[in-house]
Amino acid sequence: MERNRTSVYQHRSSHRHRPSLEPVIALTKITGLAFRYSALVGGALLDQVGNYTRRYLAGQTCAIISDSNVAPTYADCIRKSLVSAGFRSILITIPAGETSKTLRQVGAICDRMIAAGLDRRSFVIGLGGGMIGDISGFVAAIYHRGIPHIQIPTTLLAMVDSSIGGKTGVDTRDGKNLIGAFHQPSLVIDDLDVLKTLRRRQFNQGFAEIIKHAVIADPKMFRSLQSWEARAASALQWLIKRNIEIKSRIVAKDERDRTGQRALLNFGHTVGHAIERAGSYRKFLHGEAVSLGIVAACAISVKRAALRPDQRAAIVDLLARFGLPTRLPQNFPRRKILDTVKFDKKFESGKIRFVVTPRIGVAYLTDDVTLEDIREAVEQL
Ligand SMILES: NC(=O)c1ccc[n+]([C@@H]2O[C@H](COP(=O)([O-])OP(=O)(O)OC[C@H]3O[C@@H](n4cnc5c(N)ncnc54)[C@H](O)[C@@H]3O)[C@@H](O)[C@H]2O)c1
Ligand SMILES: [Zn+2]
Repeated sequence: MERNRTSVYQHRSSHRHRPSLEPVIALTKITGLAFRYSALVGGALLDQVGNYTRRYLAGQTCAIISDSNVAPTYADCIRKSLVSAGFRSILITIPAGETSKTLRQVGAICDRMIAAGLDRRSFVIGLGGGMIGDISGFVAAIYHRGIPHIQIPTTLLAMVDSSIGGKTGVDTRDGKNLIGAFHQPSLVIDDLDVLKTLRRRQFNQGFAEIIKHAVIADPKMFRSLQSWEARAASALQWLIKRNIEIKSRIVAKDERDRTGQRALLNFGHTVGHAIERAGSYRKFLHGEAVSLGIVAACAISVKRAALRPDQRAAIVDLLARFGLPTRLPQNFPRRKILDTVKFDKKFESGKIRFVVTPRIGVAYLTDDVTLEDIREAVEQL
């Protein structure tokens, strides 16, 4: 294995052999909800995709949408599995990277699907990180006014965050995710084996969202992360399952992001998004910017929500433990961060809706936070 790649846990069997980790279902049929789907988390699942799909979907044809980094390694195995389960598939590979997440690309993908004869009984499989999850989900949302979507996330961030919750979409010239639709997947398949080829920086950024989930909703998971040594596949399986449960439970209360419940998931994101933008989306990965945003949100929480300084320190330590940034470089254009926050839509009428934490495991939205508080927190970063 190359040095800059990471074996994220000690798990040696290949996905050609019998399942090494029995899949666990992270969420299933929560009654009373608009959406019902299952997330399978386990090892060696890719060559079982056909079988699992058969259990959940009736269609016969599908488009696998993937990117130029992921498809060469993983698409073949899935295609073979689909064939042996009696499905016909086409593979559509788009260039890796956020710049592919556009309406133009959506149009090109839909054209290919039409040309291949896919119809309203077909379905879409998104195989890749969050970029692919978002664009393939959007294609599924609009193709023939909506066809089923299977998510096969291949980054840790996509497994614990973007594949759950049904937000799909693309970027425009003016900003990220400005066009999109809510479209819940029919099935999510998390094969832990694919994480072995993920670069370490990409792997670590997933922990920013995991730590966010712990801070807003799960003190027990926070404590487990503090002593996170175990790299056994089963530990990672538990962690991913737990994060899916946390996110889906929050989303279930406010699927369309209207009542403020879902907004709790934005903890660390107001400043995080502004940092991403100020760094022209090149300096920091999303999770890294969120890590810095969490540090800022903690400073603000000490001031406005009586978060204990020792708890704040524990959160910052945990982020650092997973290789995430907790300080901005000296020469980073901090003013740009403030400019972006000011124009943030949440700053309507001079007030911002900001997520704070009074103690680890609890979060709430407040409009007590001022721009001055944010300026101070960014200065300290
Ligand atoms: N819908 C949501 O709720 C939601 C939430 C958070 C983020 N997002 C979106 O997710 C995207 C970020 O997700 P991401 O960080 O997964 O980005 P990504 O999909 O761009 O993947 C990051 C990089 O890793 C590569 N890669 C993916 N899987 C790999 C593997 N197994 N082995 C080796 N390389 C692999 C990709 O080709 C890419 O180069 C953004 O577009 C963001 O807007 C959506
Ligand atoms: Zn995020």
